[in-house]
This record gives sequence, structure tokens and C-alpha cells, in this order.
Amino acid sequence: MPVQALFKPFHLGALELPTRVVMAPMTRSFSPGGVPNSKVIEYYRRRAAAGVGLIITEGTTVGHIASNGYPNVPQFFGDAPLAGWKKVVDAVHAEGGKIVPQLWHVGSVRRIGTEPDASVPAYGPSEKLKDGQVVVHGMTQQDIKDVIAAFAQAAKDAQSIGMDGVEIHGAHGYLIDQFFWEGSNQRSDEYGGSLANRSRFAIELIQAVRAAVGEGFPIIFRFSQWKQQDYTARLVQTPEALGEFLKPLSDAGVDIFHCSTRRFWEPEFDGSELNLAGWTRKLTGKPTITVGSVGLDGEFLQFMVNTDKVAQPASLENLLERLNKEEFDLVAVGRALLVDPDWAQKVREGREQDILPFSREALMTLV
Ligand SMILES: Cc1cc2nc3c(=O)[nH]c(=O)nc-3n(C[C@H](O)[C@H](O)[C@H](O)COP(=O)(O)O)c2cc1C
Repeated sequence: MPVQALFKPFHLGALELPTRVVMAPMTRSFSPGGVPNSKVIEYYRRRAAAGVGLIITEGTTVGHIASNGYPNVPQFFGDAPLAGWKKVVDAVHAEGGKIVPQLWHVGSVRRIGTEPDASVPAYGPSEKLKDGQVVVHGMTQQDIKDVIAAFAQAAKDAQSIGMDGVEIHGAHGYLIDQFFWEGSNQRSDEYGGSLANRSRFAIELIQAVRAAVGEGFPIIFRFSQWKQQDYTARLVQTPEALGEFLKPLSDAGVDIFHCSTRRFWEPEFDGSELNLAGWTRKLTGKPTITVGSVGLDGEFLQFMVNTDKVAQPASLENLLERLNKEEFDLVAVGRALLVDPDWAQKVREGREQDILPFSREALMTLV
């Protein structure tokens, strides 16, 4: 099957991507002090140089005291981090690539003791106590306003340092998804209750980001059914419910939906072959990004724990068929690109035999 479909340009307003290959956001924890350094710059530059059309950066935290959950994650606020990101942008642009930051707030996943201020507890939709101590501070409506303002400011900063858009991390059981999911949102105010109410935080956040960046600056929204707290969780069970969930997000200003699944070939609902990105495109009329085990024979979560498993390169046939049928517009690649900066180029040139397998070892270095 010809691979050209992956290497056609993509246009959306002023956004022009040279190829359909997107680098999936992947936390790498190589930014001490929250600042992307020369190694990080080189890491992203290499992917752009080898045919990745759009880089979505690793999750990068917005300017709120409790946004971070892990060591050495880059920040998206403050002079030094933003100056570091500006260098990343310039390096990627010099190679003809495009780049957006993934704006992140981890919500209740944070643990006391985490940088930058070890004394700050997690913030989440609902309070949690452990041994009489607040481990998750239940967010007040003022906290909600503050976090929304932090996302809007980060988006404005992204625009001013030359980023090509932003991705809002609304997936995987982090803050925005914690509001969506009834398993983590027990609020009794207008931000809790029905799915429409639980979506209010995301909708207001997207509207604030849109207001901050104006029309024409791309907003990508990443969402998932699965949560890191529960891989089988689902926000919606039917296409109708998915449509109802997505419409207000779309109307609030999302340009592209990034539909996070672990295996792109799995039908999202019975009775149709369409995956989550396929359904989302059909229901919203907006372009979508698919993701999940592209080019590899094992899904990613099994590598988040200690394992000596190896994911081997796998055929792209099914993916290309779906892309040719325009089930989705763009294809995000995670681990295959993490381990092999030249993955896209090797695919383009038919050098399958040179593509590297993925194992946990790849996480230890930034190549
Ligand atoms: C090391 C690692 C870090 C990740 N960090 C993030 C992240 O910061 N934000 C996010 O939305 N997804 C993150 N993910 C999920 C990936 O974006 C992607 O959805 C997942 O790896 C599936 O794609 P793949 O099968 O091609 O690897 C991470 C995945 C890996 C392997």
C-alpha cells in the first residue's frame, strides 16, 4: 500500500502542515527547573527534520501552583521556560516543521512533595482527605477561574513566541478530564452533575483560550474515553452521546480534535468500523487526529510499568486504508517516534527494515 497519504500536506486556515504525521505528546522529564534545554531543542528539531508535519510537545504545565505532577517536566510560564520554548519553535521552523505545546494541568494526580512548591496539594474537582490531611483540594469557583486564566495566558504566550497553535490536554484522567468524568467529579454546583455540566469547565476554558488568541490561531483539543485511573472508563456509550458531548466543545472554538485511543483500529461503537477519530470527524465536521499503536505491535500502557517487553514495527496497511478513506485527517505517532527520530523518513522511503523497535529503555535517554 502506498504511503503517500501520510505525506500529503494538510491545510486548515493559516495552518499548513507539510505532512500528515504528527508527533504525539510524550512526557520526557528532561527539563530540570522546568526549562527546555539544548537537548530538548535538538530532540524536537530532529523529528521536524525527518518529516514530522506537526509536533505536539510533551505536556507542559500552565501557570498555576498545582498544575504539575512530575519531576523535570517543562513549564509553559516564566521567562526562562518560555525562552527555552522559543528556541524549540525556531529550531523546528528552521526545518520546515510546525509545533504546538500541549498545555497541561494534572489536577488530582499531583502528590504533596512535587515541584515546584512541595507544600502545595493537588487541586481537583472534588476534595479528598487522607488521614485527616487534604491531599486534593476541591476547587472553588475562584480556583476554576484562576486555572482557566492560566490556560488562556499560556495560549497567548504560545502565540507570542511563534507556536503554530496550542493543544489543550483534556484526556487521560488529568484535570479537565477529571471534570468530564463522573468517577472523579462529585460537585453539586453547575460544574458537576450531568455530562453537560461536567463539560462546563472545558467549555469555558476553550472559550477563554479562543478569546486570548483570537480567530485563526489553531486550538487542538485532546480527549479520551480511557482514564489512567481506569482504562475501561467511558465518558459516552453511543454515537449520539458522543455528538452531544463534542458539540459544545466544538462550538466553543476547537479547530481539531485529537482522539486518544490505545489501538487506532478498534471500532469505537458496535455496528461500525469507525474509530473514535472517525466518529468525531463525522459528528463534528472538524478535522481529527487518530493515535494508538501506529507502526507498533503492542499498545503503550504495558510499557508504563517495568517490563522487558519489546514492541516490534508493524504494518501500516490498515492505517493507510483508513487515511485514504478520510476516516481522519492526521495520524499521531508516539513511541515509534520517541525511539526513532527518523521514523517518518524511513516510512516515506520504504526503509521498513531500518525502523527501530520500542522498549522501555528508550525512555531513559533523549535522542
Ligand atoms: C513516555 C510517554 C509519555 C506520554 N506522555 C503524554 C503526555 O504528556 N500527554 C499526553 O496526552 N499523552 C502522553 N502519552 C500518550 C501518547 O501521546 C500516545 O497517546 C500513546 O503513547 C499512544 O501512542 P503510541 O501507541 O504511538 O505510543 C505518553 C506516552 C508515552 C509512551
